[in-house]
Amino acid sequence: MTTKTHRPTEAATPSPGLFISFEGQEGAGKSTQMERLARRLIERGHSVLQTREPGGTELGEELRRLVKHGHGEAAVCPEAELLLMAASRAQLTRQRIQPSLAAGQLVLCDRFFDSTTAYQGYGRGLDLDFIESLHRFSAGLLEPDLTVLLDLPVRVGEERSRQRGLALPVRDRFESEERAFHKRVRDGFLQIAARHPERIRIVEADRSPAAVEQSVWSLVEPLLADRSARPSQSRRSPE
Ligand SMILES: Nc1ncnc2c1ncn2[C@@H]1O[C@H](COP(=O)(O)OP(=O)(O)OP(=O)(O)O)[C@@H](O)[C@H]1O
Ligand SMILES: [Mg+2]
Repeated sequence: MTTKTHRPTEAATPSPGLFISFEGQEGAGKSTQMERLARRLIERGHSVLQTREPGGTELGEELRRLVKHGHGEAAVCPEAELLLMAASRAQLTRQRIQPSLAAGQLVLCDRFFDSTTAYQGYGRGLDLDFIESLHRFSAGLLEPDLTVLLDLPVRVGEERSRQRGLALPVRDRFESEERAFHKRVRDGFLQIAARHPERIRIVEADRSPAAVEQSVWSLVEPLLADRSARPSQSRRSPE
């Protein structure tokens, strides 16, 4: 990868793009639904960036590997885990998301800062106020225009991950966490959603993939209509 200079995010850059994040616990269907939405958008002629957090850049993918698969001596403590997630997001925001939004692309991100609040905050019990300020540092003032929270009972998510796990050689650290942790994460996501009702929309994920896809589309389609009706409008500013 070529080296680029990335300016820090000091203010939300008004841009013609649209930024949608997918959130929810393991097995909720984030990757499945993001893929389905991307397909619909591309069919309609939109330019789409699909990315994920942690990851999405060369640095971020390295961090993802460290944070998800560190065991034994390489095990990551909660505080380091939080900072690694933030580092991955800082890089992804500046290297991929902001330039894509500035170019008018639709950006779909598999997890963004709400996952950090849910997992490292509610799940691991790290300080929520500190995590909020870290979000402002790592993502600047950038925030998704829409966050789709795929919600389902913990047991259903576990079962889906287990089924998928049968085809995969290793479970990562998060998949191996105990049920109480996943319950805190799910409840955490719901509390975050309650605090940001304008941005975060809860979608009932314990339904067929097609039914979930339809619900997601009913949230995204009006945003596209708004965008094409007012092409010179900038993206929504952060609250
Ligand atoms: N609505 C659904 N009904 C039943 N199974 C589903 C549904 N959506 C996805 N799955 C299956 O459940 C598993 C998990 O889905 P997916 O990988 O999309 O979840 P995820 O939220 O991205 O999980 P992770 O956080 O672990 O990446 C996959 O095997 C997928 O095929
Ligand atoms: Mg996934």
